[in-house]
Amino acid sequence: MADIKATLTVDGIEESLELPVYKGTLGPDVVDVRSLTGKNLFTYDPGFVSTAACESKITFIDGAKGILLHRGYPIDQLAENSDYLETCFLLLHGELPTEEEKETFVNTIKNHTMVHEQLNHFFNGFRRDAHPMAIMCGVVGALSAFYHDSMDISNPQHRLISAHRLIAKIPTLAAMVYKYSMGQPFMYPRNDLSYSENFLHMMFNTPCEEKKISPVLAKAMDRIFLLHADHEQNASTSTVRLAGSTGANPFACIASGIAALWGPAHGGANEAVLNMLEEIGDVSNIDTFVAKAKDKEDPFRLMGFGHRVYKNFDPRAKVMKQTCDEVLAELGMENDPLLKIALKLEQIATEDEYFIKRGLYPNVDFYSGIILKAIGIPSEMFTVIFATGRTPGWIAHWNEMISSDYRIGRPRQLYTGSPKRDYPAK
Ligand code: CMC
Repeated sequence: MADIKATLTVDGIEESLELPVYKGTLGPDVVDVRSLTGKNLFTYDPGFVSTAACESKITFIDGAKGILLHRGYPIDQLAENSDYLETCFLLLHGELPTEEEKETFVNTIKNHTMVHEQLNHFFNGFRRDAHPMAIMCGVVGALSAFYHDSMDISNPQHRLISAHRLIAKIPTLAAMVYKYSMGQPFMYPRNDLSYSENFLHMMFNTPCEEKKISPVLAKAMDRIFLLHADHEQNASTSTVRLAGSTGANPFACIASGIAALWGPAHGGANEAVLNMLEEIGDVSNIDTFVAKAKDKEDPFRLMGFGHRVYKNFDPRAKVMKQTCDEVLAELGMENDPLLKIALKLEQIATEDEYFIKRGLYPNVDFYSGIILKAIGIPSEMFTVIFATGRTPGWIAHWNEMISSDYRIGRPRQLYTGSPKRDYPAK
């Protein structure tokens, strides 16, 4: 399958090494370095900036051009014409569903939304002020203990059932986490509602009062889920793949993805954006914070700006900004003080030489945080929402890996510690 070869000459190795080079459908060619280990050589690539760890057919990103494709379809077209569950189907199966397939898929997900009653008791072990992501790591991992009937990862049917269960139950668990923090009773899912309406119902309704779900907010929620559905080999997806490569069950793998997503450099950024806007407090303080972000001696960074891959613009941020405007108009919040700070910050940073030179633009989390706050979701829940949306991507990658000829993921290292030495004689 190699079309061309790369030649590597290394001091101390007489013959030069011929390495196969593979071409993908899109994107950079990759040099196959697997034979280097036979020459007692490793490649060195901390942060995996130049390393393709797998072959994948799911998502393609061109960071320089701001392109994001799921199974070939541009994200803006999916956001405009598709919906979250259809995009889930696309990610899992590789093609858009027919009308009939979509109906079956939507109904299947609806039929899996309830969690086992026994799972409710897990929540009592957590403090009410526990971070929602801490509870999510626990309860999603705990799903492993409930579905012994579908744990054979070598069985495609079992993998599909697990996929459906995860996509259906994670929003239920997410809403339960919120209800627990509020001291309110858990709300059972309602199968007469759409995926996003049901999520808002489980979050904001109570047994005493069932409010009507705003279609604008439900659409915004659906978009937030859709725009987060997958993002190629990011830190959490790579974590899911690595955990999955050991043969761990899908619920444990997704729990590991949730843990990786928690960090502020990844999914935790949307929460960090809101915290930062609150810390800035007033438009008059923005210059001080921008100066801090540019100061190399100061670890402060503008949260919601920059991306490892997008160095021009984040195509998800464009769509999210539009949704942000719609939600704020629906809720009559155009004059929200935090929003004013966000918009001014966006303007200053996008005109500043420091940010332009480094390709630092508002990313998806900059706007999603503002939308979620407007909907009434507290900032500690933001990363949980991201995890809910990312679930189909994690599962699609896990499933793709398990269906392929995979090996356990086991990186190597450049050891710079002490050479062998003897334990001091006593
Ligand atoms: N504010 C100020 N300076 C920044 C920022 C920022 N947000 N991001 C990067 N830089 C600077 C950085 O100091 C460095 O400058 P220099 O070249 O002078 O040393 C340069 O830009 C390159 O930064 P880097 O750390 O090498 O870039 P990276 O690709 O390793 O990091 C990032 C990407 C997303 C972790 C980083 O931009 C960041 O910390 N952003 C804020 C957190 C954030 O919003 N994360 C959400 C990402 S989108 C959601 C997702 O997909 O997970």
